[in-house]
Amino acid sequence: MIIPFDIHYDEKNHLDKVYHRGQEKIWDGIKVLDGLFERFPNDIVDLNDDQIRALENILGIILWGEFAAWTTASEMSARFDDYGAKMAAVSQAHDEARHFYVIRNYLQERLDYKPKSIFKPALRVLEEISQTKSLAKKLLGLQLMVEPVAITIFRFLRKSEIDPILSEVMPLFEQDEARHIALGVKYLPSLIKEMSLLRKIGFIMWQIKLILYEIRGLKCIEEDLKTLGICPKEVFEFAENKQIACLKELSAEIGVGEKIWSPVIKIIEFKKRLTFYPHKTHPIARKVINCFF
Ligand SMILES: [Fe+2]
Ligand SMILES: [Fe+2]
Repeated sequence: MIIPFDIHYDEKNHLDKVYHRGQEKIWDGIKVLDGLFERFPNDIVDLNDDQIRALENILGIILWGEFAAWTTASEMSARFDDYGAKMAAVSQAHDEARHFYVIRNYLQERLDYKPKSIFKPALRVLEEISQTKSLAKKLLGLQLMVEPVAITIFRFLRKSEIDPILSEVMPLFEQDEARHIALGVKYLPSLIKEMSLLRKIGFIMWQIKLILYEIRGLKCIEEDLKTLGICPKEVFEFAENKQIACLKELSAEIGVGEKIWSPVIKIIEFKKRLTFYPHKTHPIARKVINCFF
């Protein structure tokens, strides 16, 4: 490593504020979880076998998502040039490590479950983000594609009231994840501006690939969501709106119109219809979209 004595600091973005806000809002995962185990012991929650399996499947994906977010944020922190962005990423890595051990402890102590594998489409999303060398793709994938879906799942788990422990701990996750999105929205524009047209096209194609994996991933947990009393279509629509809102915010930061994302939005809408409402899609259109995506 070469020490950059003239380390860059972006006066406009002040991303170090994300780090300071993170420090103000920090919470102790062990203390919170132990307190909740004491207040809501296992015997007061009457979950049937299907509900337990559904929670294991959904929280298993969340667990490995937290792991991927933790290692990716650590890597981004090491590679960013701007010290505000470095601070925001290291603060995110700290949060994600806490999210990882809280979910892991919940699964082990509450459900006596040790997660192993997860559904293939969810795994592909995490692998794509972890394995790409491109910082722009990592930021787009983690901050603007995965975080909105994670926030959505936390919100719906909280609202389902399936377990009072989850209803109390999920808002703490939601609050942390909402802070992480800022790093993507503020730092990604400078990386996009440096891209050639060809790279921009590749970048958008990669994003479409990731979204399609996410749609398949949500389809895989459709039955589990229903088992927990959560409507899968509502989850999908909420996540989709959150992702689109993030992309629009990003367009405003870059200073381009929202139209740049319209092909992406069209493909999401079409693939969503095909996945969740196949009978409402024209058979020829279904063949074409399945062939290309
Ligand atoms: Fe997280
Ligand atoms: Fe996060």
